[in-house]
Amino acid sequence: MSTWPDTRILDLLGIDVPIIQAPMAGATTTAMVIAANQAGALGSMPAAALSIEQLRDALNTIRQASASPINVNFFCHQPPAADNARDHRWKTLLEPYYRELGADFDALTPVSNRAPFDEAACKVVEEFRPEVVSFHFGLPEKALLDRVKATGAKVLSSATTVEEAIWLEQHGCDAIIAMGIEAGGHRGIFLSDDLDTQIGLMALLPQIVDAVKVPVIAAGGVGDARGIVAALALGASAVQIGTAYLFTPEANVSVSHHYALRHAQASETALTNLFTGRPARGIVNRVMRELGAINPSAPAFPTAGGALMPLKAKDEAGFSNLWAGQALRLGRDISTYDLTRQLAEQVLAKIKRH
Ligand SMILES: Cc1cc2nc3c(=O)[nH]c(=O)nc-3n(C[C@H](O)[C@H](O)[C@H](O)COP(=O)(O)O)c2cc1C
Repeated sequence: MSTWPDTRILDLLGIDVPIIQAPMAGATTTAMVIAANQAGALGSMPAAALSIEQLRDALNTIRQASASPINVNFFCHQPPAADNARDHRWKTLLEPYYRELGADFDALTPVSNRAPFDEAACKVVEEFRPEVVSFHFGLPEKALLDRVKATGAKVLSSATTVEEAIWLEQHGCDAIIAMGIEAGGHRGIFLSDDLDTQIGLMALLPQIVDAVKVPVIAAGGVGDARGIVAALALGASAVQIGTAYLFTPEANVSVSHHYALRHAQASETALTNLFTGRPARGIVNRVMRELGAINPSAPAFPTAGGALMPLKAKDEAGFSNLWAGQALRLGRDISTYDLTRQLAEQVLAKIKRH
């Protein structure tokens, strides 16, 4: 497949198809990454929900199965200072649910964590030398970023505004992921915490393309070949697709998440900070409806979810995060390999026709 109109990302990342199977912490499996690679796309392994040992195991598995370039993805937030008063207020707000569901309010609150990119994670990058490293929430401190770049890895990160895209280019990104408001999972927002700055991909993408010189990857609401053709027409060199891959058998999703993905309408997702403390898009469920999807009492990222864990154990559908993007109704039950190949073939057929 060499008839793509813009080969900048293909050349930069060493892939055949301008599709990045999105990193989705908790949901992406090594089988998904391997299958995406086999189909010619860039498979992405997210690290945020893994311990260092689990990450090493995952990368060993992928490297044994595939010689293709891979992306390893990290969150690069600063762990927050402890705030017992805020944690207590948050748990107290949830107390009626503990009573209703029979969860033990007085038991120690479980820890909800997301691993930040740090010294130990950097050592894994130096050991495995993934061809691509992508970050969410900006970039790590310069000394760590320099070490990543010294391995030869191409560095990507998500921009949710034009300002963030310019910042990422100035700080050394080789390509920028333009993340529209439609996208599932955490917003990559990092220069501001004002959600009014967050705009749709149709408006964001061409303005980022105009503002930076590096290639731009479109993410958010791209769910089928039409979306890819549109993104390419708006100046993207590739797309990053998440939600559509949640429908594949390679995705690791809970029973409730699996059901919600197949039954929710496009209008039934919202940005919420309840599950981690940072805004992320998921399918609206009981706790989001009743507490408000954005609640100022939620503790700082990534700790908010701890107090919800005992409730999730009692009512998974009502109290767990059901991450999904606005294009969820375009999702189909199809394997990662077939989805990737079909998308590529359909896009090429559409491009040829025009
Ligand atoms: C379940 C889920 C988990 C996600 N986790 C991550 C992650 O760990 N790292 C990251 O950079 N982006 C994460 N994202 C965002 C995706 O990488 C991607 O940008 C987004 O899914 C694209 O929008 P779409 O869902 O409309 O396709 C996640 C998205 C979803 C749906």
